[in-house]
Amino acid sequence: MAELLKHDVVIVGGGAAGLRAAIAVAERNPSLSVAVVSKIYPMRSHTVSAEGGAAAVIKGNDSREHHIYDTISGADWLADQNAVELFVDEAPRELTLLEHWGCPWSREPDGSIAVRPFGGMKIERTWFAADKTGFHMLHTLYQTALKYVPITWYDEWFATKLLLDKDRCYGVVAIELRTGAIRGIVGKAVILCTGGAGRVYPFTTNAITKTGDGMALAFRAGVPLKDMEFVQYHPTGLPGTGILITEAARGEGGILVNKDGYRYLQDYGLGKPLDVHDPRHPVKRTMELGPRDKLSQAFVMEMRKGRTLKGPYGDYVLLDIRHLGEKKIDEKLPFVRELARNYAGIDPVYEPIPVRPVVHYMMGGVHTDVDGKTPLPGLYAAGECACVSINGANRLGSNSLTECLVFGARAGHHAAEYVGSAPDPDSSALEQQVRDEADRIRKQFLERTEGERLVSIRKDMQNAMEEGCGIYRTEQSVQAALNKVEECRERFQRVVLDDHTNSFNTELIAALELECMLDVARALCQAALERRESRGAHQREDYPARDDEKFLKHSLAYRTADGVKIEWLDVVITKWPPAERKYGADSGLPSEGGNKS
Ligand code: FUM
Repeated sequence: MAELLKHDVVIVGGGAAGLRAAIAVAERNPSLSVAVVSKIYPMRSHTVSAEGGAAAVIKGNDSREHHIYDTISGADWLADQNAVELFVDEAPRELTLLEHWGCPWSREPDGSIAVRPFGGMKIERTWFAADKTGFHMLHTLYQTALKYVPITWYDEWFATKLLLDKDRCYGVVAIELRTGAIRGIVGKAVILCTGGAGRVYPFTTNAITKTGDGMALAFRAGVPLKDMEFVQYHPTGLPGTGILITEAARGEGGILVNKDGYRYLQDYGLGKPLDVHDPRHPVKRTMELGPRDKLSQAFVMEMRKGRTLKGPYGDYVLLDIRHLGEKKIDEKLPFVRELARNYAGIDPVYEPIPVRPVVHYMMGGVHTDVDGKTPLPGLYAAGECACVSINGANRLGSNSLTECLVFGARAGHHAAEYVGSAPDPDSSALEQQVRDEADRIRKQFLERTEGERLVSIRKDMQNAMEEGCGIYRTEQSVQAALNKVEECRERFQRVVLDDHTNSFNTELIAALELECMLDVARALCQAALERRESRGAHQREDYPARDDEKFLKHSLAYRTADGVKIEWLDVVITKWPPAERKYGADSGLPSEGGNKS
């Protein structure tokens, strides 16, 4: 008989959203048993690599209206405004809570919280802990979660399937990496917090663990993936490795120049450069503090004009922070210096850093409401794997760490309430699903001795996605990517592993991850194909304009027997009707006669 490990709430993923959700459940109802299932140790979650900071209104020059407006216009009006309002309202409380739990936010000389400017935000509101914000937040959340006895930690367990009964979700099937044992981890509510899917692409800031696992689990269970066509390229990754050079480098005053030393962003509607030593606040000049979609698009245009530099890893431009001086760099950007030295072989105190756009974030994800609820009763999602949506067509830097907290907490609270009224599952039905899944894994991966190895399939998928669904796309390029992804799915049916053992079979996990990525890639391509307009990070060269009449809507990608089907859902507009996105010194703040109606 398949063993079921029983809890009340099962959280999949141990990063910022998962840990915040676990704490929320434990605080809401201490009698509930919580399982945190994570394929890696929580302290190795990708949250650890977040650098620049987390946004929330805290200073007197800022307001909720400003944060809301920046987020909505940054999202190219595809964000749900009710969700953004709620997010902005709850953000300061969440970051303050973290402070009380021990997060060492950087300080102003007077001891108050320090904030820095970030891209697309017209007022500085990004809280930070030097440039290791994610590291400190993750430590804080983990040490806080550890004090709750009802939390059981399933570290190094990989979830492969959702358990379902009578159209509700009741847990997951998971493999214990140490032993290879396959078990059902049961709870009346499941919260997916598995992060994004940047590894669908070949060149990304994302850890190798970000393979869209939670998105794929939900998708296979009939839950739609929302707005998957919106893939964020961060403008400043290191060529070769894709390692992130944080936006904080530009927030502190760094500039971008092309091969002629020219600050090319001034040619792309992002304002005019001030002198780097101009005492006016950098936030007033936009330029390098424009939103990520526009900066990445400007890079492609420079490349097409032949004004980028050429290196062994392709084209790049230069991020110059030398004028900040060694003292400020060491105080505010020590990690940037360390990364540039170790991975680009240059010291940014003396030389500019080579950078290029790199896949960083999925705006899309599992379709949820503002409480993290998906259309499948008992299933919740939060963090990058979810799409609430506050990020629309383009997320602003530093909104995502805060999003993990606000919506991780909300999902936790609501799941804790839900389990009180949810009916008990039929245990024998769940046990049968565990047995079936164990059989599938054994037959499909562990017993097969002939077929194609997974690396070539993964490479082909990743290259097709970059070529067909990159910063600029066309019908033809997306269709080519989709055809290749379908071919890869077909080949995956015959995938063969070298490793047929049980203990720490990392090749098996890589195969299961690839299976997830293929599902995510498929949904992404289909949505990109059917959104025939350009908005935010989705730039269709064959449909260059934003089309609010037809596409002020979220795409919902459903997995069906006949392939991926796209449905459309209206965007929630509360107070801010669609307008032109304006950046640069003259764009104005909402209260200064900007776009707000
Ligand atoms: O550049 C950065 O530090 C990234 C931050 C973010 O994606 O929110």
